Amino acid sequence: MRAGIWLIGARGSVATTSVVGGLALRARLADPVGCVSAHPALNGAALPDFGELVFGGHDVIAGPVAKKAEQLAAAGVVPARLVQALEADLAEVEMDLRHAPAGATQAEIAEAIAGDIMAFGERHDLDRVVAVNVASTEPAAQPHPAHASLGALTAALAAPGGVLPPSSLYAYAAFTAGCSYVDFTPSTGARLPALAELAAERALPYAGHDGKTGETLLKSVLAPMFAMRNLAVRSWSGVNLLGGGDGANLTEPGANAAKSVSKQRVLHEILGYAPDGGTRIDYVADIGDFKTAWDLITFAGFLGTAMRLQFTWQGCDSALAAPLVLDLARITVAAHEAGHAGPLAPLAFFFKDPLGDVDHALHAQWEALRTFLSGLDGSR
Ligand SMILES: NC(=O)c1ccc[n+]([C@@H]2O[C@H](COP(=O)([O-])OP(=O)(O)OC[C@H]3O[C@@H](n4cnc5c(N)ncnc54)[C@H](O)[C@@H]3O)[C@@H](O)[C@H]2O)c1
Repeated sequence: MRAGIWLIGARGSVATTSVVGGLALRARLADPVGCVSAHPALNGAALPDFGELVFGGHDVIAGPVAKKAEQLAAAGVVPARLVQALEADLAEVEMDLRHAPAGATQAEIAEAIAGDIMAFGERHDLDRVVAVNVASTEPAAQPHPAHASLGALTAALAAPGGVLPPSSLYAYAAFTAGCSYVDFTPSTGARLPALAELAAERALPYAGHDGKTGETLLKSVLAPMFAMRNLAVRSWSGVNLLGGGDGANLTEPGANAAKSVSKQRVLHEILGYAPDGGTRIDYVADIGDFKTAWDLITFAGFLGTAMRLQFTWQGCDSALAAPLVLDLARITVAAHEAGHAGPLAPLAFFFKDPLGDVDHALHAQWEALRTFLSGLDGSR
């Protein structure tokens, strides 16, 4: 299956690392380390090969993707030798990147977005295209009556003034273009009744929200341990220090709040109660994509004995996120091909704040993903 990945935020760090990684895998210059879908228990025949993935996308900025790849190489995020070896391939991807469209109404903008995505599919003779949102995190969307139904939304989009945040407008446009949609960010995306109605009407699958790459990944492994041993978690506080475009964007209080909520939800869901403490995100320009997360957990054991666990996570955010973007694209196009529509709850394994009523413990999510993927293989 020839599959297209339409990246929203295509010139950012996660998008560019995904492109470099995807091209390197296609050219057999790298191994799929960190790609969950390459795990022997999951890599079934229903998934497109890494070599069958084609990249395009939208961004609001204009700098060449090859330049961004060089910057990421200089920062130690991707190997410089790969960026050099892939110069011609990156120039080809550049041809499929478009500036985010403007228009007098959001209906016009959505039509232009959908037009760009459909033209991409035709140009490369793609069987399926998935739009993946890796754009800057938005503040939580303001509720609007037009979000409640597709009829109300369609009417509101045709009038001047905006009713959808960008992530949701891209989801709307992707669905009207017949594409599936994945939200790797905490933004609103497809999480509106009107968009659920549109996806159901067009029989399209979607997944989200907010890639689970570091601190929250550890929470989803450690919290079940406390729960299974019947230990009482009294507090769980985390401090995240990060730079890069994501870090700079999260200095905006609305975006910061959306991200922090997404990061803390997992504890309540797994433990069944909310321990004291919260998650703080601070911007440190100098560390770029290399995030440090420090967590302090206080807990009580037998007879109330007080104990502590601390961990320090030092990860390269884009290098952790990019393989998951490739995984999500492979799995979502295969799910689309197999006739799945609506929210893809078995993809909860990948997300901090997954769609649907799902188990938040990582081992349970792994099992749900494995079962789902073997079902996709069985449906061929
Ligand atoms: N790296 C991780 O581990 C990780 C994990 C989970 C979620 N995320 C999310 O992934 C997203 C991308 O992270 P990043 O580090 O690549 O950030 P980045 O700042 O490097 O890239 C974001 C890109 O989105 C573009 N953009 C902003 N508004 C847009 C719009 N309306 N239309 C199209 N493009 C737009 C920006 O110009 C920029 O190029 C963030 O929302 C982040 O929270 C990242």
